[in-house]
Amino acid sequence: MQGASSLAPCSTLCYALCMSKPNFDNVMNALRTVMDPDLQKDLVSLNMIRDLKVSDDGKVSLRVVLTTPACPLKEKIKSDVIAAVTSVSGVTGTEITMDAEVRKAGMGSGAVSKEVGIPGVTHIIAVSSGKGGVGKSTVSVNLATSLALEGARVGLLDADIYGPNIPTMMGVTENPKLFMDPEKGEMFVPPTSHGVKVMSMGFLIQGDQPVIWRGPMLHNILSQFCTKVQWGDLDYLILDLPPGTGDVQLSIAQMLPLTGALIVTTPQEIALQDVRKAINMWDKVKVPIIGVVENMSHFTGDDGKKYYIFGQGGGDLLAKKFNTKVLAMNPLVPEVREGGDAGKPIVVKNPESESAKILRDLAKKVAQEVAILDSKQNAAKGLEIGQF
Ligand SMILES: Nc1ncnc2c1ncn2[C@@H]1O[C@H](COP(=O)(O)OP(=O)(O)O)[C@@H](O)[C@H]1O
Ligand SMILES: [Mg+2]
Repeated sequence: MQGASSLAPCSTLCYALCMSKPNFDNVMNALRTVMDPDLQKDLVSLNMIRDLKVSDDGKVSLRVVLTTPACPLKEKIKSDVIAAVTSVSGVTGTEITMDAEVRKAGMGSGAVSKEVGIPGVTHIIAVSSGKGGVGKSTVSVNLATSLALEGARVGLLDADIYGPNIPTMMGVTENPKLFMDPEKGEMFVPPTSHGVKVMSMGFLIQGDQPVIWRGPMLHNILSQFCTKVQWGDLDYLILDLPPGTGDVQLSIAQMLPLTGALIVTTPQEIALQDVRKAINMWDKVKVPIIGVVENMSHFTGDDGKKYYIFGQGGGDLLAKKFNTKVLAMNPLVPEVREGGDAGKPIVVKNPESESAKILRDLAKKVAQEVAILDSKQNAAKGLEIGQF
């Protein structure tokens, strides 16, 4: 009995003598060696380490706050943090929580003055193409749904007011409800589907009636979609644009502080010529290009061979010419179309399929590029990241 009772003070003494006790500063200093590979700064300078606690018995708990819940480097950053913390002498255990706060440097870029932003909306991302039928809406619904699956707060605005098909593709059956805001007056409450708030001209027109709009009317309806819809707090608002470089695109570029535009193209030359025009337009209005999605890049036949129906390598050529990246090469897969027709994006309908994985991966890359663009905008404004 006596032996046992004398053991406890001895082991406590050994712990005290043999291991220096970790403290807040040692752990913080160790964390200064962990870099965010995209932002090229350490996690402490980026203000990503929060709620750090070091207990008397050497246990360390902290929260890592990334710039997006869809961060593709989440697991790497977590293991780097664990390695750094456990390298501190005397640390006996770690409890790391991975969290995210989508940040915004300021009001986007743009030469043209912005009439309105959307209060509560952090990043507005335009999905754009030169030509119709290349898969813009398909990419928009899968991008929005994937970001929501990663835990982000997401809205999807169908700005293709001539051919609004987002409600069908998202499987939304109810119309937006009207709500009387004491300050802003009558507002639309957008319905939610697959975790995404959805607004579309499709809710407001009757049946198959064609829509004929002129410039000022277009501007007006788009501005109402921004100011008269109760979007609430969103990390990302995805805008599915109509094809081309006309009134709608210009209205949007003038009206909204866009973080950037994602370009969708098929590999063939005609789609590429059109898309070059679209990229030049975004360039003129000073909206950065987030990257390029090459859609319907190939088809895999029953024989297992890949067929490049629309040519090959177009997205790469485009990305090189305009100094941007191909973020995804999405194959032509009947299930993708079926998902759209059935109102269940493939990332929900068959999450383990090749296409779903490509599209979920695309969403993470978009979130990553947006965080990088945001940090560059911060730097241009002379702000430190984490300073808002
Ligand atoms: N990767 C794909 N594989 C199979 N079908 C696709 C793919 N991408 C788009 N589609 C289908 O092609 C058609 C046009 O796509 P859509 O997204 O509506 O294009 P856009 O919005 O550019 O006009 C739709 O029927 C859609 O389901
Ligand atoms: Mg479309």
